[in-house]
Amino acid sequence: MATPRHASPPPVSPPPAAAPPPSANGTAVVGGSRASQGEFPWMVRISDGCGGALYTEQIVLTAAHCVDRTGKDTSITATLGVVDLQDSSATKVRSTYVYRSPTHDTTGGDWALIKLAHPVRGIPTLPLATAADYNEGKFTVAGWGDTVEDGNQQRYLRKAEVPFVDDQTCRSQGGEYDGLHPDAEICAGYVDEGGVDACQGDSGGPLFRRDDADRWIQVGITSWGTGCARPHAPGVYTEVSTFAADIAAAAKKI
Ligand code: ARG
Repeated sequence: MATPRHASPPPVSPPPAAAPPPSANGTAVVGGSRASQGEFPWMVRISDGCGGALYTEQIVLTAAHCVDRTGKDTSITATLGVVDLQDSSATKVRSTYVYRSPTHDTTGGDWALIKLAHPVRGIPTLPLATAADYNEGKFTVAGWGDTVEDGNQQRYLRKAEVPFVDDQTCRSQGGEYDGLHPDAEICAGYVDEGGVDACQGDSGGPLFRRDDADRWIQVGITSWGTGCARPHAPGVYTEVSTFAADIAAAAKKI
């Protein structure tokens, strides 16, 4: 799959002078700003350099490409409850089991569940969008990943806003986007300008928005993109509404 976490993307020359990207105020995710403590309390950092979201008090939802395989796995540490990864008050819990989406390598579905050694108390979970109604509008993406392509992982959580991009527009960007799975993936970003995006190390973290009752719900999982924040290369996210039932069923079994 395109530009996985450990691949080095081809060098890019700076984008041609164009209108400044909508919210490129320096650094970010790419093009975002720092999140405040408690703003997105369900954000999780996974020790292998990915993000995640707390799905139940003992299960983290992340990307399939962030984990190896389904089975017993005590190698992962989840860090919860902080924006500063070096905050001594962070909750750190080991994994016991990983469930990797069985369709990721075929029809798409870049999601995985990490079971924690014990439930975490007092940390809110992020509910999933269970229908496609919220697959539109403006989304927030957050993570500790690179703030520029080929940049560095961050100590403090960052966030950015990205608009929905329809499948046809996303696919028509060509290159790796030719392989888009329209039902399994949802795109977001400023197609013409670039400038705001998730990037390496944000994978597995949530793409989210407010529902009609003004509560946060998860609509995507950071999956891939060609480079980061390039024009004509939107961010691609796992389409959570497509997999919400499978995720719930898997979570019941692990
Ligand atoms: N695969 C990347 C990761 O593991 C995420 C890349 C997201 N890229 C993007 N341009 N939106 O962190």
